[in-house]
Amino acid sequence: MRILSGLKPTGRPHLGNYFGAMRQFVDLQSKGDGYYFIANLHALDGVRNRKEMQEFSLGVALDYLALGLDPSRATLFLQSDIPEVSELMWILGSVTPMGLLLRGHAYKDAVDEGRAVDFGLFAYPVLMAADILLYRSDVVPVGQDQKQHIEVARDLAVKFNQTYCPGFDPQTGEGGALKIPHAMIRDDAGVVPGTDGKKMSKSYGNTIQLFAPDKEIEKSIKRTVTDSKGVDEAKDPSACNVYGMLKLFLTAEERVAVEDRYRTPGTGYGHFKQLLIDKFHEAFDGARARHRELANDPASVREVLRNGAERARVEASKTLRDVQEACGVRW
Ligand code: ADP
Ligand code: TRP
Repeated sequence: MRILSGLKPTGRPHLGNYFGAMRQFVDLQSKGDGYYFIANLHALDGVRNRKEMQEFSLGVALDYLALGLDPSRATLFLQSDIPEVSELMWILGSVTPMGLLLRGHAYKDAVDEGRAVDFGLFAYPVLMAADILLYRSDVVPVGQDQKQHIEVARDLAVKFNQTYCPGFDPQTGEGGALKIPHAMIRDDAGVVPGTDGKKMSKSYGNTIQLFAPDKEIEKSIKRTVTDSKGVDEAKDPSACNVYGMLKLFLTAEERVAVEDRYRTPGTGYGHFKQLLIDKFHEAFDGARARHRELANDPASVREVLRNGAERARVEASKTLRDVQEACGVRW
């Protein structure tokens, strides 16, 4: 089973990203043939600085390698290292109804908010379909917000196959040049709260970063907003931002014990913050050390990406050839 997903390089990762997304990708590498790529072509719509683009892209690779993505198991590569994706995008574009793109959430939101919209944003779903279809992906793990994009990829694959592959059976998906992918939608019920209680997000400046220096981690955990209950008062764990983060690190038994401690007078918020600091280090210090090592050797990270691209490209060129032959631009 081929599992594929794109990782958009938009900044430094935080606890919300880890528990909401990154952890699943790392776990999934043992469940099938994982293809993970850094979606730098997609990031061009927001990152408009050469140095930032390079740093963020290499940064994502570094983050995932430090967190345990194993390049001998999963294929990790840079989207732009595979030029075939751009050609497939164009070919798919020729079977993409305008209406489909006009209904795109990201595009519609941008228009509604009065933002300047360019072709890259409008065509974003077509490039994403090309990403998915080029590697004959079976399953695409994504968050709820990307569900519509996977449906576009499925629609375009069916449309292409129906147009150009006489033996294609839309019921079984057999006989087409393009394989029909399936979405694997994460359960987004678990939103990690930030230090101010809102959803943890880079845009709100309320994050605990995974790879920031120790001092910064401590500072951001300590500034987490709590109510003003004193040591001698009983506290409600479910209403506490510190606990919202802390529980992610705890086993079921540990949760019972910590919740009990919240409800019993005698422990102040400072204690729970310190516990969160300790748990953070316990969980991430191994990854943080690997991250520092890799950061000192960016050439080796680029090399991992090059090797990944070499493998991915074998698959990509086969698919593109089939597609080109099917629609008659190559013979
Ligand atoms: P940010 O909001 O910091 O810009 P992104 O939008 O880049 O984060 O999110 C990258 C991934 O991390 C997405 O798949 C998203 O679902 C997940 N994610 C981000 N913030 C959280 C959060 N607070 N809780 C759970 N998952 C999150
Ligand atoms: N659009 C995705 C996001 O914003 C990233 C992405 C690009 C992707 N291409 C993909 C995800 C292909 C899955 C499959 O998170």
